Amino acid sequence: MKNFAGKICFVSGGASGAGLGQAKLFAKHGMKVAIGDVRQDALDNAVKEIVAYAGCPESDVLAIKVDLTDRADYTACADKIEETFGGPPHLLIQTAGVNSFGPVEASTFDDFDWVVGVCFDHVVNGLLIFVPRMIKAYAGKEEFHVATTSSGGGFMAGSGCGPYSAAKAAVNNLMYSYAETLVKYGAGATVLCPANINSNIGNAEKYRPEHLRNTGYHVSEGTMMHLRSVHATGQDPIELAEILKEAIENGRIIALQDPNPANWKGQLRSYNETIENYTLTEAEREVIQAEKMKAMREMMEKMKAEGKEMPQMGWAVPEGAEAFGQARKDLDWIKR
Ligand code: NAI
Repeated sequence: MKNFAGKICFVSGGASGAGLGQAKLFAKHGMKVAIGDVRQDALDNAVKEIVAYAGCPESDVLAIKVDLTDRADYTACADKIEETFGGPPHLLIQTAGVNSFGPVEASTFDDFDWVVGVCFDHVVNGLLIFVPRMIKAYAGKEEFHVATTSSGGGFMAGSGCGPYSAAKAAVNNLMYSYAETLVKYGAGATVLCPANINSNIGNAEKYRPEHLRNTGYHVSEGTMMHLRSVHATGQDPIELAEILKEAIENGRIIALQDPNPANWKGQLRSYNETIENYTLTEAEREVIQAEKMKAMREMMEKMKAEGKEMPQMGWAVPEGAEAFGQARKDLDWIKR
């Protein structure tokens, strides 16, 4: 998809963080933008921010309060977009997401239902609700495109965010399926996989639905403070939206946030190698591991000699905060 002006865009989770950045950027490129989010106060603020950033009339921005995990609610949201803007979106961007951290073995059904519900089920809901409408309205006539904000976590599973990594890996695979099939309608699909965004996701626990609050993780004001400090160092949402736009324009399936190529590409390579190396013998794996350690030592020595700062390992806990990613304190069977 190369031309955006005058067309319709829908961004799920568009009231905050990455989604708000995407809404602002595509509004600036002349799209009529609808945003769907569960938080009314954030939606009200987002409309003002989008209008101010894009310099567009307020009538080109539509804010809809919706729980994206509720199929009837999400369908009503799609109907509202068509009523207001005269058609379904040409560009669907599903970005809403939440996260919660703790040892995977401490997870409860509520942890899975909340995180997988928002990160994966909402993506399925949106694809099933919008894609048939988009094909019927635009195939063979106008450009259209489907995008989802996934995560680097979809490539690199971690023991501290099992439900999230599983949901994002599923999103990636689903988007490859859509990318393959949409070609025959003259459309495309992109999955954006960021690493760290300067957003409000560190506060997500505050609006976890009441009926899904039985978590197995230790969650407190202090753990949220730690998370906020991590995300405060993340990428600017507009910069990230530019990366997505470039991938959409060039019909690329995967868009990677790449603030530090040495870091990010290295991690991806090492994850892929873990899978590839599965076919090797133990002796062959040991040789590869030794080579990696040698390369790492040489890099550290070189940086030291050049007076460069060592890469930060892990995330420092700020004063007054508590480390996130621990099990709930009363779970005495968890090895800490
Ligand atoms: P954010 O918290 O700033 O924005 C997410 C939005 O989703 C919020 O406005 C929230 O109200 C909305 N939302 C959550 N549940 C909803 C529901 N059931 N119905 C409707 N709206 C709902 O977070 P951020 O970081 O901008 O997240 C955007 C996407 O980026 C997510 O999919 C997240 O997993 C992904 N991501 C974030 C990273 C980060 O470092 N913050 C890193 C990698 C991926």
